[in-house]
Amino acid sequence: MRFLNLLLATAFCLSSCSRRTGDKDDTTMSTKDAHSFARPEEALVRHLDLNLKVDFSNQELSGTATLQIDNLSKGSQLHLDTRDLRIDSILLDDGSTAKYDLMPAVPYLGSELVVYIKPTTKKITIAYRTSPQAAALQWLKPEQTAGGKQPFLFTQSQAILARTWIPIQDSPGIRFTYTARVSCPAGLMALMSAENDTVLHPDGVYTFKMPQAIPAYLMALAVGDLRFHPYDERSGVFAEPVTLDKATYEFADLPKMITAAEELYGPYAWGRYDVLVLPPSFPFGGMENPRLTFATPTIIAGDRSLVALIAHELAHSWSGNLVTNATWNDFWLNEGFTVYFEARIMEKLYGKEYEDMATVLAEGELRKTVAALGEDNPDTRLYLNLEGRDPDDGMSDIAYEKGRFFLLNIERAVGRERWDAFLKQYFAEHAFQSIHTEQFLTYLEENLIQGDGKLRNTKIRDNKWVFGTGLPDSFPKVHSAELEKAQALAADFAAGKTIQNPQGWTTHHWVYFLRQLPAQLSPAQMEDLDRRFQFTGSGNSEILCQWLEICIRNQYTKADASLERFLTSVGRRKFLKPLYTALAATPSGKEKARAIYAKARPGYHSVSSGTIDELLR
Ligand code: BES
Ligand code: ZN
Repeated sequence: MRFLNLLLATAFCLSSCSRRTGDKDDTTMSTKDAHSFARPEEALVRHLDLNLKVDFSNQELSGTATLQIDNLSKGSQLHLDTRDLRIDSILLDDGSTAKYDLMPAVPYLGSELVVYIKPTTKKITIAYRTSPQAAALQWLKPEQTAGGKQPFLFTQSQAILARTWIPIQDSPGIRFTYTARVSCPAGLMALMSAENDTVLHPDGVYTFKMPQAIPAYLMALAVGDLRFHPYDERSGVFAEPVTLDKATYEFADLPKMITAAEELYGPYAWGRYDVLVLPPSFPFGGMENPRLTFATPTIIAGDRSLVALIAHELAHSWSGNLVTNATWNDFWLNEGFTVYFEARIMEKLYGKEYEDMATVLAEGELRKTVAALGEDNPDTRLYLNLEGRDPDDGMSDIAYEKGRFFLLNIERAVGRERWDAFLKQYFAEHAFQSIHTEQFLTYLEENLIQGDGKLRNTKIRDNKWVFGTGLPDSFPKVHSAELEKAQALAADFAAGKTIQNPQGWTTHHWVYFLRQLPAQLSPAQMEDLDRRFQFTGSGNSEILCQWLEICIRNQYTKADASLERFLTSVGRRKFLKPLYTALAATPSGKEKARAIYAKARPGYHSVSSGTIDELLR
């Protein structure tokens, strides 16, 4: 009931609902999702039954999507999102063929699909197929996988790419349940963001059920040569056979992470939680597909040092999947809360010293992002205005890190105990709902601030954080004695002092050390660093990426082969972007970048190639 009320309230306050004023600028909040053609106030998709065949040779998914709808207005139209889909036919539940209009494509939004329905229509069946260019899909040849023998397919639907493989209402404010039947070549395993079988089906036919309602951006499918290793009765890891042992070792703390998360903010709501390790071209670090996080293999460092990413995706099971940003302007409600939650899980498991290092590193990156964007840039606000733009453009460190520091600021203002109780209640009361920034702020006022003007205006300062640009002066201070050691070593090295090789350093120490080095290093200094610490041969993707950036800047050509290997084997955008940017800074570097990119591009997912195309244009 609560869900329905909220939905209706949202639906009827569509255009510009609000009035909030930031400290600097006026911000009109619109609650309409500018990135979807759906008209949820007229007719809503409630449930989806997918029946798809996976055809590797034609790089095509084909089959049917049956949509159960709630024709709220008893009108004659259902508005759906599609992009690059071929629609073969649409049937209504009375057996008649439906008329429909597939509108001209709009850049990145795709083609609105208007289906002419009847006031009594409850269900429609769309027969369709995807295009080989479908932006959500990446079809990998066997040689692009770890095992090298079988092809692989995976989807990446966030933010607005679900519509490139399913005709659906592709808005984070609209949730539906689903089932699926997927038929793939025998010998391969299909997995979805749903209840999954953990064993291979010899006939290649898999069925799925997702009984909890989710938004379209959490629709996910992967098909490949996959095996499963359980940790306990509710969690485990899927990976290609040659990766499975390494992955199993790396993520062994998963059950503890789930328990820690539940202790913080309430029961895990989705049944199982498994991790799927993808081939290296996966464009993100991780993606919080419900019940089945998709993860890059670049976090398998061999020493469990990069598992914060798993804590992050797990945390999305609350912040994001349970309580969902209603539009992409509210993206910080997903990511800022998740980074905060991730930090709390990591602190619980690995201690304050560990997490303080991560937080100090993150602050440094955030300050760099703000400096690069400019302090007055509207994109440095938490509440974004992405209308008329690709939502991908708004997905910077701001939502993640400014969001996290805002929440840390509130935590400090009211104390952990009160804040944790508030957050737990927030997740419980908004479970399976989508929420706008404005609603969060009202909830914050009513349940935490409770009219305490002093608390609000001198400490929490929510308007300043959410609607103001740049970083407020009330930015919480975090200090790490461990990282100071790394800083001191970097300073000594820069000053030409003899330095001792540090003992027991973690990834965080090394990354910070590298970041604290002077921008310009002499060839002798580069050689010295590499000889001492073997950075060029590092198997830790975070350290290697940081090092390679320094190598590019200082024209340290001994790392060229390593750089080229990295750029042609890894498709994770977070690594590609800084490396190609560093290369593009000089004419000769740009030439090198273009040459490497020509080889690497066919192996990247569209999300990454889209970004790098722009960068090297
Ligand atoms: N949901 C995001 C990934 C995403 C964001 C995909 C926006 C598409 C659009 C995921 O949870 C995420 O944040 N991944 C990060 C890792 C994290 C530890 C910061 C990544 O991929 O780097
Ligand atoms: Zn995230």
